[in-house]
Amino acid sequence: MEKNIILIGFMGAGKSTVGRMLARYLHWNFVDLDSLIEASAGCAIKEIFAREGEAFFRDLESAQLRKMALLRKTVVATGGGAVIRAENRILLKQAGTVIYLRARLETLQQRVAQNTARPLARDREHFAALLETRCRFYEEADIIVDTDAYQVSEIVQRIVGMIEIDG
Ligand code: S3P
Repeated sequence: MEKNIILIGFMGAGKSTVGRMLARYLHWNFVDLDSLIEASAGCAIKEIFAREGEAFFRDLESAQLRKMALLRKTVVATGGGAVIRAENRILLKQAGTVIYLRARLETLQQRVAQNTARPLARDREHFAALLETRCRFYEEADIIVDTDAYQVSEIVQRIVGMIEIDG
């Protein structure tokens, strides 16, 4: 029995947009972990980074990931850094089918360019280096979906075609 679908991938991969549409299609719940972190902290992610630093943010992120164990029939959009900690990667696997929404660096850069909400996307070189170091963690996913050339609705259809849903 399928527990949940967990979307992972770098900033700009489309995790939240695809996740919302996928959940609607499956009649499942949708959860955006970054939104839960903001709600628990009472402020935006960029404020958390600015005031408390990245390590504090990662602790909040791990705390939210631990709560995924309680979810059923939920599509979860994670933040791009959810895979960094080994303990998180175990939690992701335990929570359900992990799907990596993969995209090329240029695509990701274009998608995040106009958005100032991401503290780790401000510097292009740092952005590229982060993707490089994280790729191998994303590739541990159960399913990898390339997204560069596809519309959101096409990505959803491709995911639906690759997963088996019971009840
Ligand atoms: C981060 C990605 C962001 C957010 C935070 C850190 C990262 O989420 O969690 O800014 O380390 O890649 P998105 O992947 O939804 O942009």
